[in-house]
Amino acid sequence: MNSILIDEFGKNFGKKAQYLVLSPGRVNLIGEHIDYHQGKVLPCAISLKNTFAGSIGKDYIVDGYNLNSGRKYSVNIQDSCLFEKGATEIYIYGVCRAIIDSGYFIKGFSFVIGGDLPMGSGLSSSASFSCGLIELISQMYHLNIQKRDIARIARLAENKYAGVPCGIMDQMAIVFGKEKRLVRIDCRSLDVDYCSMPGCISIVVVNTMIKRQLAKSEYEKRQIECAELLKAIENKYSSVKVLRDVNYDMLNSVKGEVSNLAFKRGKYVLDEMKRVDMVFDSMNKGDIESIGRLFYEGHRGLKDEYEVSCEELDLIVEETYKFNGAIASRMTGAGFGGCAISLVKKGYEKEYADFIMKKYYDRFGKKCEVYDVGEPQEGLSSMKL
Ligand code: GLA
Repeated sequence: MNSILIDEFGKNFGKKAQYLVLSPGRVNLIGEHIDYHQGKVLPCAISLKNTFAGSIGKDYIVDGYNLNSGRKYSVNIQDSCLFEKGATEIYIYGVCRAIIDSGYFIKGFSFVIGGDLPMGSGLSSSASFSCGLIELISQMYHLNIQKRDIARIARLAENKYAGVPCGIMDQMAIVFGKEKRLVRIDCRSLDVDYCSMPGCISIVVVNTMIKRQLAKSEYEKRQIECAELLKAIENKYSSVKVLRDVNYDMLNSVKGEVSNLAFKRGKYVLDEMKRVDMVFDSMNKGDIESIGRLFYEGHRGLKDEYEVSCEELDLIVEETYKFNGAIASRMTGAGFGGCAISLVKKGYEKEYADFIMKKYYDRFGKKCEVYDVGEPQEGLSSMKL
């Protein structure tokens, strides 16, 4: 695959690629909708990835070629951005401008992108794209951008240029991923620590294939609803600025003053923050039963309290718990479609995939996709060619 990418670079741009970058996708195990409340989350990097080959240019033009779609991109990083919402060019432009905003000097370059990370499916293809491109630019222009800064710049590109109000979990998981390890990220300090996943567990991702139309507007709505709650709590406890710092007493003290909806959202956030540390400890202890229970509780909270699930995700979770050989299941990522993550006992991956695809088809008359992700993988990496 990588040699094809490098050859394609030569064919398209008539010169040799200088660097190769591997940028994985991520899957979140627990701590959903927690990063923008500055709490802790527990994702890992996965084997599905974006790969880039690139070389610097002379002017301010970025030329790209997508091996999978056959699409070509051309972006002048000095112009103002006139691309259509959601276009890949916005991400290219946004990444370059965010690097410049962060005080670095760069010019144009050429790149080819390939890999097997499905786009727009809830495995953080856009964060993987941004982090990969930043690493490529950092290598080509000898900027030596450190991991945390890569994550910060990638988030800035999403928030400021692509207009996506995401937190920093995806970018951090992609840069700090480690083989066979789950990474616990403190989304305030950006400190990370790791736990191992019991050797008998295999990660399987089930993609509902649902286009997540609601994801962006509902995502923003959750932030607004939680801000309403926070305002009421802040009136009583002036030091509290984010939900991360709220405890159950504080939450209960505003019951009746805020809408039931806002209260429910807050309750989910507090419960989920607890679950992150509990899953982390259970992973270390190999306590599979607790992991199964905590995932299930997490999904219930996302469905009934935070209300970001959908029928298709709920079916996958419910059916998974009926499968002999399954350990845990819940929706992962922003929700409203996208993917569910299931943990199954090693050796059951294929049987589980057949089982869940059949259940899904029988119920909805359409196909879901299943990725046998296996174990957590190494994060972002690059090499000089
Ligand atoms: C999306 C966002 C992340 C995070 C998750 C929900 O993936 O990009 O920042 O908020 O949703 O946990």
